[in-house]
Amino acid sequence: MKGIILAGGAGTRLFPLTLVTSKQLLPVYDKPMIYYPLSTLMRSGIRDILLISTPEDTPRFEALLGNGEQFGLHLSYKVQPAPDGLAQSFLLGEEFLAGEGGAMILGDNLFYGNGLGTMLRTAVRRAEEQGRATIFGCYVKDPERFGVVGFDEEGHVTSIVEKPAEPQSNYAVTGIYFYPAGVSAKAATLRPSARGELEITDLNLLYLQEGKLDVELLGRSFTWMDTGTVDSLMEASTFVQTIEQRQGIKISVPEEIAYRFGWIGTERLLSAAEKYGHSPYGAHLRTVAQGKIRGVVE
Ligand code: G1P
Repeated sequence: MKGIILAGGAGTRLFPLTLVTSKQLLPVYDKPMIYYPLSTLMRSGIRDILLISTPEDTPRFEALLGNGEQFGLHLSYKVQPAPDGLAQSFLLGEEFLAGEGGAMILGDNLFYGNGLGTMLRTAVRRAEEQGRATIFGCYVKDPERFGVVGFDEEGHVTSIVEKPAEPQSNYAVTGIYFYPAGVSAKAATLRPSARGELEITDLNLLYLQEGKLDVELLGRSFTWMDTGTVDSLMEASTFVQTIEQRQGIKISVPEEIAYRFGWIGTERLLSAAEKYGHSPYGAHLRTVAQGKIRGVVE
């Protein structure tokens, strides 16, 4: 399966922070925001990734991440001329996907938790082997800000509503989506919503109507954050800082994931470390290369 990171949008809720830079390049504690969704896709086992962003910002992402070889990936780029909706990524990515299934993650979504990789790789397998789509629901206190899942008495999903005034539940649809082969053709049948966007919720509803959508609920051992507001951005930074300072090791480090998955060797890891110089991030990569941190990234 291939992957898409959607890192577009004007980031108006963060002005003036995002007046001249992309939201997804802002720091979340010690690394650019984009490193987090990139790490999440990698934990799904996905290595062929298309990054979609605005005309102004796409070259900045390319300058930061290049062709992805330092992460054992193949990265390519595509411009989204205007922010016409999340589902548009499957139209912009049609050629890239070439009929294959695709996972899409929003560039401002941060996932953390033990067992996440297994859960994501199960979603990939379901798409590839059973032709089913998977999305993830997470309990939140402010569901009206998100796509919201409604359930019947037996817990079956009956509805998904985008930013409902009266939410059916507290379960928000998170910003990572797995679809089987043919997703671009399905996205092509969508029409713009009242706010003029091709809604990811409408795409999910097509799969729901066909009985081909699985909604996995993230348990309380998982943390999901979207970092689109000043407070959530700050919160995410504090969250990462707390974990990293307590443990003394870093999370969501793409080079480390690539190394542990065997996608890059020690030499490439060390040359990446060199690029980061004497920063704590560079030091972390050197510690990983020395084999001092045991255990797997799963
Ligand atoms: C988008 C989706 C929404 C989803 C959210 C997750 O909202 O439209 O369904 O719950 O991402 O972050 P946006 O962040 O574009 O308002």
